Amino acid sequence: MCKQNGSRSKIIFLVSVIGIIAIMHYLTPTEPHSYHKLHIILRKLYFLPPVMAAAWFGLRGACITALGVSVLFILHAFLDWPGNYMEQANQMGELVGFWIAGVIPGWLFDRQRSLLLDLAHANEETLLGLVSALDLREHNTRLHSQRVREYTELIATKLGVDEKVKREIGFGALLHDVGKIAVPDQILLKPGKLTDQEWDEMRKHPEAGYRIVKRIGFLKDAAEIVYSHHEQFDGGGYPRGLKGKSIPFGARMFMVADVYDALTSERPYRSPMKYDEAAAEIKGQSGSHFDPVVVDTFLAIPPEQLQEISRRYQDQSL
Ligand SMILES: [Fe+2]
Repeated sequence: MCKQNGSRSKIIFLVSVIGIIAIMHYLTPTEPHSYHKLHIILRKLYFLPPVMAAAWFGLRGACITALGVSVLFILHAFLDWPGNYMEQANQMGELVGFWIAGVIPGWLFDRQRSLLLDLAHANEETLLGLVSALDLREHNTRLHSQRVREYTELIATKLGVDEKVKREIGFGALLHDVGKIAVPDQILLKPGKLTDQEWDEMRKHPEAGYRIVKRIGFLKDAAEIVYSHHEQFDGGGYPRGLKGKSIPFGARMFMVADVYDALTSERPYRSPMKYDEAAAEIKGQSGSHFDPVVVDTFLAIPPEQLQEISRRYQDQSL
């Protein structure tokens, strides 16, 4: 939605710039000489819109803009066709120039966008590989973190979070337990109850994860979610005992998503819960473990949407 609004604003701005240049160009006379100089400068400004369109919309947008500018320019040229052969050649050259000014940057910007997308895709694949390895170590499954990410992003969508922030929240959810890499196997994989000392060790993983993730430039906001993913709305969580809205909003969304996934996933000691049971469990902890606004939003999501995510990311023991 935000992206669409941004594109609409750019189109309106571009059309306005073309309109202002065209009106001033048509109305500025070529006599006397001082006006003629202004007339020529205005004509050169037609180069600007194709370059702007190339930067904002790529090759296609640049071609459409160059076409619009060419039509306006040709109309003016025919209305006031110069007798001078050199001036005719000059005007033809400018016409070709509008297309060169649009097409070459348009192609380059498209290429740059495509390379950036490839880079973002490669970054994501690397993170997914890392998270799958960590999930596999702890749960003997690979897809817990990816499901939790999808559930968290779905809640964020319902709360009207914009795309960029939603993506950062998604990365935070995906990487929430990355700090468990620092937890020794004998604690992380211990089948029985943990001792107090072992719990102390386990409770260090949000901070360990935060230290790992915050060093990666594009994951700075995600790091805050990693740090806060065991905080509870009533202040009973760890490591900092944050309360209410002092817990990052993304972490409050994550808490609900994580518990829903834990309840509805197969565990060695119990069968997965059905949606209704899990929803009742989450509702029962609204205001204590969970932010009530997030719980209400989560409960308003049609169960089929959650089940579709669960189906897409079916865990398989390897
Ligand atoms: Fe954790």
